[in-house]
Amino acid sequence: MHTSLRHLSRALAFAFPLLVAGAAQADDAPLSLIPLPAEVQRQASVFVLNAGDGIDVRAGDRQAFDIANYFAALVAKSRGLKLHVTAAVNGRTRLTKMDSDKQLRVSGAPGADAPIVFLLSKAEAGRFGPEGYRLTVDGGGIRIEAGAPAGLFYGGVTLWQLLMPYGGHGATALVPDVVIEDRPRFRWRGLMLDSARHFQSVAEIEQLIDWMALHKLNVLQWHLTDDQGWRLEIRKYPKLTAIGACRRALGPDAALTGGPGKPYCGFYTQAEAREIVRYAAARYIDVVPEIEIPGHAQAAIAAYPQFGVTGKRPAVSTDWGVHPYLYNVDDKTVRFLEDVLDEIMALFPSTYIDVGGDEALKDQWKASPAVQARMHALGIADEDGLQSWYIKQMEAYLSAHGRKLVGWDEILQGGLPPEATVMSWHGGDAAVQAIQQGHDVVMAYSPTLYLDYLQSSAHDEPPGRPTVVSLKDVYGFDPVPAGVTATGASHVLGAQINLWTEYMPTFTRDQHSLFPRMAALAEIAWSPAASRDWSSFAARLPGQLARYDSLGIRYAKSSYDGSAAAPASPDARNSDELNTCSEKLVLRIEGPRPLEGPRPVYRVDIMDTCWLWKQAPLDGMRHISVTLGDMPWNYQLAHDISSVVVRTAAQGQDALEVHLDTCEGTLLATAALKDRGWLQQKIDAPLPAVTGNHDLCLLVTGDPKRLLWAVDTVSLSP
Ligand code: ACM
Repeated sequence: MHTSLRHLSRALAFAFPLLVAGAAQADDAPLSLIPLPAEVQRQASVFVLNAGDGIDVRAGDRQAFDIANYFAALVAKSRGLKLHVTAAVNGRTRLTKMDSDKQLRVSGAPGADAPIVFLLSKAEAGRFGPEGYRLTVDGGGIRIEAGAPAGLFYGGVTLWQLLMPYGGHGATALVPDVVIEDRPRFRWRGLMLDSARHFQSVAEIEQLIDWMALHKLNVLQWHLTDDQGWRLEIRKYPKLTAIGACRRALGPDAALTGGPGKPYCGFYTQAEAREIVRYAAARYIDVVPEIEIPGHAQAAIAAYPQFGVTGKRPAVSTDWGVHPYLYNVDDKTVRFLEDVLDEIMALFPSTYIDVGGDEALKDQWKASPAVQARMHALGIADEDGLQSWYIKQMEAYLSAHGRKLVGWDEILQGGLPPEATVMSWHGGDAAVQAIQQGHDVVMAYSPTLYLDYLQSSAHDEPPGRPTVVSLKDVYGFDPVPAGVTATGASHVLGAQINLWTEYMPTFTRDQHSLFPRMAALAEIAWSPAASRDWSSFAARLPGQLARYDSLGIRYAKSSYDGSAAAPASPDARNSDELNTCSEKLVLRIEGPRPLEGPRPVYRVDIMDTCWLWKQAPLDGMRHISVTLGDMPWNYQLAHDISSVVVRTAAQGQDALEVHLDTCEGTLLATAALKDRGWLQQKIDAPLPAVTGNHDLCLLVTGDPKRLLWAVDTVSLSP
């Protein structure tokens, strides 16, 4: 056992009041490492790290020097412990600034004067792999060894976690003695960021990239184009952003722009995209750009209608859902897309380029004589075949430029070259089929890895798609689908969480949706399958959340314990405590007003604006009060639009009706609803005497596609 002040038994360290003051880790607490490393051996002793201690790298090793500096800055910022980076030169002089122009000779032992060393040995690449590392903490200090820079970086991340097990702050850190040998289970540990539905600033994206790196994620799939916006400058086609980057500010978007008269706009210049790529690369993250082809193309067609099917110019969409606009199949349009890919490839060095391919409704192609004529001329049997023809051309173009195509799993429709990689959001059989056809796949399964789904059923949860995808749900997802052989499993590149941003107008909302679910994704994509254990993860999570606090991450506290509270009163319900009459397309959406401050959130089936209060206590209750909000209708439901329930409005005016027992039962109360410019209104109506508990049906008449009314609260009183 070591007894110097540098190296102590754990028992001694925690008996030492001065040191305990600087460290929050309890003696027997689990090491809060997320994702859990492949192998951890822990000793019953600690190494004491003090402010001013050095980190050493080999002289001339620029990559290790940069990584050590990243680590030192992170520790200083998040923990308040200042370390300095040095490089051994001739075994004596130490530089704190490495000059890459000078050839610094490698000699002397790194770590001679510094307790921490970051050692990159390319000769060890075979041993550690491209992303693995060994982290040793013992009486000799702290040593991170890797065969490649990414591994060294990840070793630094693990050490950072050890230094702040509970977000501890201050000048001294007690670092548990460990030997950690680590490498990832999967090589694609991804996050898809939708910058089309809502736009994030460059600074916000860089912040997110830093946080991804601290989860050992390595792919940012950047969803840059969609019906609601084209967000990347393309020099050859300036209207893509001059027109395609702006939409009318409808609903809550008006809060972002300052009013409904001001459009919602945003795009990244090529210089900004390059900066993001550079920033990500320094954190060992690949940026995989996604350009949607042949659907989700409305913003592009708003800019250049000649590339669309109808020849008409649509507006950039303000709606959510699946839109009809597809590119046409002319050679000129294919050339346009190749031009776009040329600029994309010049900006993004990533091997993979994503061409989307999802949700391309074929109606416009079916209805167009020109498209049908081309299809027949090409000898293609149907529209799925035509989609396949499109994707194959993009694949050939990318391949010819040394890149690989990836796309959502609809790219399998009508046949796909085996070289293409499938982003599997349908999972299950579709994923197994893709693997059996020899494709590499990345599992981006919906809903479990779709972060626009709610993460709790608490009423104060921000808006999102109902069906709760809890932290535990994400943690329980295995990227290798059931029924896949070992050979098949080798085609699973990894897993990806997907941040669709219809419900996320601000970066604060993004953070709420991302964290801590990103921690669960990190572990399923990095840690060995055999180590997966929810209770172990849950025990390590408080340490992770404390780190989030020290980084300023606005994570969801609800994700951990977010079940709905019991109704506060037997006489009142909010929309989360009511049932919807049907479950056709239930959403949890926010009202557009007020522009500032918290807005009401409604649980509503947009296909049928009707709610049930099960077993309402009607004894002695002679009044009912209902607050409702009206919202703009902004949904594309494709063929389902005709199934939206429209109840005839008496006297041509929308009204709320309250019925007894069922929606066809006795009409107990009714009140006309007046447009109030998207402000809430409160209805008070008398009730006839009814005894006992009964179901109440609250329904809205009128056409929700004109104005969408939703119940917020309902209460009964004597
Ligand atoms: C998707 O969710 N449309 C990929």
